[in-house]
Amino acid sequence: MENIKFDNKGVLSCISQDNIDALGVEGQQAVKTLIEGTGAGNDFLGWVRLPQETPASLLDSINATASRLRDLCDVVVAVGIGGSYLGAKAVIEALSNTFAAYEPAKTRVLFAGQNIGEDYMAELQEYLRNRKFGIIVISKSGTTTEPAIAFRLLKEQLEAQVGREEACKRIVAITDEKRGALRTLATAEGYETYIIPDNVGGRFSVLTPVGLLPIAVAGFDIHALVKGAADMAKATISGTDTLSLEYAKTRNALYRAGKKIEILVNFNPKLHFFSEWWKQLYGESEGKDGKGIYPASVDDTTDLHSMGQWIQEGERIIFETVISVEKSEHTLTIPFDESNLDGLNYIAGKRIDEVNKMAELGTRIAHIDGGVPNIKISIPEISAYNLGSLIYFFEAAVGISGYLLGVNPFNQPGVEAYKRNMFALLEKPGYEKETEAIRAKL
Ligand code: PA5
Repeated sequence: MENIKFDNKGVLSCISQDNIDALGVEGQQAVKTLIEGTGAGNDFLGWVRLPQETPASLLDSINATASRLRDLCDVVVAVGIGGSYLGAKAVIEALSNTFAAYEPAKTRVLFAGQNIGEDYMAELQEYLRNRKFGIIVISKSGTTTEPAIAFRLLKEQLEAQVGREEACKRIVAITDEKRGALRTLATAEGYETYIIPDNVGGRFSVLTPVGLLPIAVAGFDIHALVKGAADMAKATISGTDTLSLEYAKTRNALYRAGKKIEILVNFNPKLHFFSEWWKQLYGESEGKDGKGIYPASVDDTTDLHSMGQWIQEGERIIFETVISVEKSEHTLTIPFDESNLDGLNYIAGKRIDEVNKMAELGTRIAHIDGGVPNIKISIPEISAYNLGSLIYFFEAAVGISGYLLGVNPFNQPGVEAYKRNMFALLEKPGYEKETEAIRAKL
């Protein structure tokens, strides 16, 4: 795939090409295991062929629903958490005009259910009070507490504002085909629904209606997004593109050399939530059995003025993966100033992006010199097609990487621990024993 470039020369001052090549056989095996579906968690591999198998009719139906919601609403609140939140948020933020939120013109997508902040919910409800709003409620299990609380509040508000019948037209539920409280509720209320395939885990679900409907409501091209992913999927599955494997091998070779933390770096503020999506994908897929690279992120150059010091000179257990965007959408040059009181005339006439690129290069060199191995992944520009390819690239790579690490990349047993304690503390029926046990610890 020409639109994704991978460069790992910046790791060679820390590990050798031989260290990476030593993972060749294991890596090939991991790819085979993933593609043939013979490894741990193989009941959650629906995402592997999903993009090229997504029928155009599904995308058209999602676009039709999105356009109906856009006609009815000035604001659509996407309610969900984790994989039912981050993919849509990442793509929408990446493709949106940074200041679109301050423009009243288009239907705006807001998010809820991704936290239990009382102030967040109260302020959201206040904002929605006199607005035409709708809700996309998303939960694969249909039982997750955070979105359930948010949806209960927003549903009640919407019904109070427009009546039950009209509210029903403005609510779309995305959930399991048969199971879960949300499915029961959606059926009882008669909401339009979309299905999250059984064999696609939450963090791999951005290219299902989970991500696609909010992205379409925000006005972005889901056909191009899915096409970018489908092209990458075809190339990865056929073996004509091995970049996911190269990335997986490189990061595992670094991990084996003691680099326990990977920092995903961007030099484009639009990618902040792409990093959040990536952190969930990699954190939940690999952090288990006492193993796993810790996925962190920074937004540069902003964070060079905060985390830059640590990265340059702190404990040498980190490596960086920079997502580099070759071309920015706009052109803006730094003006010449006769008085030059700020001393900036040496860059007058240069594009802002040229300065940014020199900051990126200078940072990569400084970090490599400081003992931070550096991987670079480039895309030509931020577009729906390229984001689709990048999403699939990272999904495939984490599957391969998880198998190289020796874990099941498709489960997340650890996320239950906090829920058990929370339910026990809230005295949820059925948790009596846990309530007693946790009280004994307090
Ligand atoms: O990746 C995952 O499986 C999780 O992060 C889920 O997406 C998250 O917990 C939300 O789950 P649900 O969609 O069932 O509400």
